[in-house]
Amino acid sequence: MSGFDFNSRDSFGSRLGVIAAAAGSAVGLGNIWRFPYVLGENGGGAFLLVYLIIIFAIGIPVMMSELVIGRRAQRNPVGAFQLLAPKKPWFLVGLMGVVAAFMILAFYTAVAGWTLEYIYQTLIGGFKGKSSADLATMFDSFRSDSLRPALWFVIFMVATSGIVLGGVRKGIEKSTKIMMPMLFLIILVMCVKSLTLPGAGKGLTFLLQPDFSKITGNTILMALGQAFFSLSIGMGTLITYGSYIPKDNNLATTAVQVSMVDLMVAVLAGVAIFPAVFAFGISPSSGEALTFIVLPGIFQQMPGGMLFALMFFVLLAVAALTSTISVLEVIVAYFTEQLNLTRRKAVILATISMFILGISASLSWGLMSNVKIFGMNIFTLFNNTTANVLLPLGGLLIVVFLGWFFPSKNISDELSNGGTLKIRFYGIYRIVIRFIAPIAIALVFLNGLGLMKF
Ligand code: PHE
Repeated sequence: MSGFDFNSRDSFGSRLGVIAAAAGSAVGLGNIWRFPYVLGENGGGAFLLVYLIIIFAIGIPVMMSELVIGRRAQRNPVGAFQLLAPKKPWFLVGLMGVVAAFMILAFYTAVAGWTLEYIYQTLIGGFKGKSSADLATMFDSFRSDSLRPALWFVIFMVATSGIVLGGVRKGIEKSTKIMMPMLFLIILVMCVKSLTLPGAGKGLTFLLQPDFSKITGNTILMALGQAFFSLSIGMGTLITYGSYIPKDNNLATTAVQVSMVDLMVAVLAGVAIFPAVFAFGISPSSGEALTFIVLPGIFQQMPGGMLFALMFFVLLAVAALTSTISVLEVIVAYFTEQLNLTRRKAVILATISMFILGISASLSWGLMSNVKIFGMNIFTLFNNTTANVLLPLGGLLIVVFLGWFFPSKNISDELSNGGTLKIRFYGIYRIVIRFIAPIAIALVFLNGLGLMKF
């Protein structure tokens, strides 16, 4: 067993701090970069509808479950399962989460690095006078450069490590409390701007009007993966954050509030992006380049556009940072508690290992473009397998564990704070975690992976 002193564990100091940190984890590139491009490629409004259903029926219950496990055990994801299910293989779910954390951090921090390049380009006027085609070329040549993406990755990674080094209360809580409200304000300004463009209506229709013929097994798998990714669930981030949440916090309320903030930011990002996409006649299915190719084009056609571009990319970087710190914290909590390293050593070890993975991911279109695994480059492999496989699988195992292998009394005790809160929803929650969520995830999985057709 580890010699970590669990009595000296750090924690969040206030209710607002808990929300800021957890919402900070959830809200990020997933909402602003990934959600619009995945929605754009998978049927627009129809995708949004499926996404909404998944958030409510599966996402919120899974998030509650992670918070329950974390706060009950007061441990990192591996230690939590070891404590709650001694001598059973459930800790492997936690370990899978740590592996997912490495993979997510690698490609996610690479994208965060792209936002730094775009802040830089905005500042030096690099977008000025460029057509959409020029901007596409610019993005492609940046991404396939053999140095720049890796350089920005390293800078962003070091910033993330610096905050995590500060610890839970002074590093994570303090920084997210400042960054989250800032983010919200900037995105609202962006929405107003986008909605007042001529022809904005088409974008809203695309985003909000479901065309049911567009819903396929793959759409549903993509929506499931996006929901898990966006809510930061299925890999132990919220087990880790849950372990820092004070005992008097209402976990169900926290899960609902965080999920609603996350959903709202994703929809707001859609409202900021799609009207503009249609107003300028750009394809909504431009893929992962959507944000980076389309938006600079839009900005420079707006009065004061460069100011908006600067605000937008700063927002993206800030949103990404509050998420990367939560992913790194999973690894650091694991290293400190299971391997008994100091926080400082844990951060250094994690950061150095991340350099190898992340530099490889960030050069996926450059130096590493010849490396293909299952036909995908490293970046795409990490992006797809985490969101569409590891996270839903982790979520499935988490609810099965709580629903079938953990005493119901302990769950209701944790959700009701030892009987002091009314938990009228408990009956429904229990049915969801025992039956609805596992069956739904399994079906979507089998169908989406082509292992079964229904
Ligand atoms: N939820 C974050 C986002 O949407 C990404 C993330 C995934 C963070 C998994 C932590 C764990 O950007």
